[in-house]
Order: sequence, then structure tokens, then C-alpha cells
Amino acid sequence: MVKGLIFDLDGVIVDTAGYHYLAWKKLASEIGIDIDEQFNQSLKGISRVESLDKILRHGNKQNSFTIEEKNMLSERKNEYYLKLLDNISPKDILPGVLDLIKQANQYNIPCVIASASQNAPTILKKLAIKHYFQSIVDPQSLKQGKPDPEIFLKAARLIDVPAQYCVGFEDSMAGIQALKKARIYAIGIIAEGPLHEADREVYSLTEINIHTLIK
Ligand code: BG6
Ligand code: MG
Repeated sequence: MVKGLIFDLDGVIVDTAGYHYLAWKKLASEIGIDIDEQFNQSLKGISRVESLDKILRHGNKQNSFTIEEKNMLSERKNEYYLKLLDNISPKDILPGVLDLIKQANQYNIPCVIASASQNAPTILKKLAIKHYFQSIVDPQSLKQGKPDPEIFLKAARLIDVPAQYCVGFEDSMAGIQALKKARIYAIGIIAEGPLHEADREVYSLTEINIHTLIK
């Protein structure tokens, strides 16, 4: 019986993965590194700082920048990303999300956001759905990012529901692994490729029936 719903944001609630990719691609090309869509898959669910480190390793430039320079690079990437987010609105909410969170609210099943993104509150406001979520995990309060389970264990604590009574929705491999380590039932939203480690794979949240979850 499910008593709490934990949502990743990018790729689950809204399709922002493409914007992250465009912003990283622009930044990477400015420092002479080329990234493609396949490489971008490995950045899903990973924090901004870790993503930059991965990109620098990919371009063999891991020792080319000071910490201050790296901070400036990730800030610049975020500026590009925020520009791309300028036009997002409720029409960009992915299929099935609104029905599911509305129904969960009706049944008093708390919803919480567990995303690596520091932009989560801004995005939820732009989508006009922030009020459906009881809480948002602050990714800056965490010691470890996904695939460590910390973010999901914290999400479960924030809504005061034991992990075994929660369900988590994720689109990244790192996120599914984190959910499994937290012993939370993992539903994978498939976009580009399969998420075999998930307990269940779906193409969109339209496939999720709240009554089946809570019975
Ligand atoms: C995750 C995305 O949700 O958030 C990653 O999947 C992104 O691609 C990470 O790097 C951090 O996001 P932000 O908005 O804080 O740069
Ligand atoms: Mg995601």
C-alpha cells in the first residue's frame, strides 16, 4: 500500500533534459569540448558540478581549470539553461503528471520532489504546480548525489512516510539505482532507452493508476 509519492523533476514532470543538453553543449564547445546526445545520457540525474567534471574528463581537460574557473563555467551553463527555460509554462508538463498529483492530493497522499536540480522551485512555479508538493528536497543539503540513496531517504523523511510505503518516479539510471538502494519501489519513465533496474517501466505517467497504487 503506497502512502507517499516521490518525484524526480527533469524528465519526469517536465522534459527539460533537452535544455540541459543544449546549455552544456554550448558551454562545452566554448572550451573546445564536443558532446553528443549519447554522452548526455550519462549526465541525467547528476548534479551541475558533477556534470561539469564529467564533461571535462570527457574532453581530457580535467586538470585545465581552477575551482574558481569551474564555478564560473557551471554558473555560465546555468545562465544558458535559465534562458532556455524562459518560455516554459504549464503546457510543458509531461502527460499524466497533473492527473496523478491532483488525485494524490485528493486522497491525501503526500507528493515530494527529489531532484538534483537547484532550479526545481523556479521550474515548479513556472509550471504552476508547486502547491501540489508538500516538500522539495534541497539538493545543496545533501552529502551525496544520485545514485546514492540519500536524496530519496530524505524525501521520505520530509513527508514522514517510511521508504517501503513510498513509490519513486525516475527517468535516469542513477536515479533508479538510488531508489533501489533506498528500498523504494522504482518506476522508470522511459525516454531514450530501457531502465531495466526499475521495478516497473512506463512510457509516461498516464500509465499510472492511483487506485492500484494505494489499494
Ligand atoms: C537533474 C538533471 O535533474 O538536475 C541533470 O537530470 C542536471 O541533467 C541536474 O544537471 C542539476 O540541475 P541544475 O538545474 O541544478 O543545474
Ligand atoms: Mg530526471
